[in-house]
Amino acid sequence: MSSKYVALTDELNDYVVAHRSNVNDPVLTALRAETENLGEISEMAISIYQGAVLSFIVSIIGVKWAVEVGTFTGTSSISIARALLPGGKLICFDQDFRWTSIARRYWQKAGVQDRIDLRLGNARDLLPRFRPTQQLDFVFIDADKESYDVYYEALLPSVRTGGLIVFDNMLRGGQVIDPVQKHMTATRAINQMNRKLASDDRVDSILLPIADGLHMCRKRRSII
Ligand SMILES: C[S@@+](CC[C@H](N)C(=O)[O-])C[C@H]1O[C@@H](n2cnc3c(N)ncnc32)[C@H](O)[C@@H]1O
Repeated sequence: MSSKYVALTDELNDYVVAHRSNVNDPVLTALRAETENLGEISEMAISIYQGAVLSFIVSIIGVKWAVEVGTFTGTSSISIARALLPGGKLICFDQDFRWTSIARRYWQKAGVQDRIDLRLGNARDLLPRFRPTQQLDFVFIDADKESYDVYYEALLPSVRTGGLIVFDNMLRGGQVIDPVQKHMTATRAINQMNRKLASDDRVDSILLPIADGLHMCRKRRSII
């Protein structure tokens, strides 16, 4: 039987990336260029295509209240904020002043600055004490991999039934199945998280092979 998936080559990925709405995005393209000037660290940024995927998901489910953990220079936050319902808000957590200063400038250029509230500091300290005034419709987690479970447990009680939590880098460039690299600390944490989410009866979960792996969890019911 032929396999029921397509392994992406660079050419096929270029084809995928080129065939979507609003493919020309001057703000995110300029942000990409400025981020690349930071050097190797720029690899932390999500792609513009992945940003479009986030915008699409946020639009489909109708999001007013959102949280992001791991903002860096702002690609994902702009993508989420643009797709919020009128009057919506995105609260961003990041500990780095320099990178989020770049994000702030691009929030202005994208016209989403009024929809974003940045909380600067260590999310491991901030999130367990975070009490949002509204139930959350959408959460995007893209910070230190070893802390994903802390962020998940801190935020899940504030997510509405049917709300989504999306985790990035859940394939770790394939390291999750590499016999040696799967034992490295961050990859071990991601493997544990993938296993936990797949069997967590508080959520419906699905691991999607988009970008570096998006694990999406839909909350099943309110937790008392
Ligand atoms: C992979 S980057 C995020 C990329 C971003 N989502 C984008 O669209 O480009 C990870 C970010 O998480 C932040 N971070 C890492 N550990 C953190 C922590 N414990 N608390 C807050 N932010 C953290 C880093 O400062 C960095 O900006």
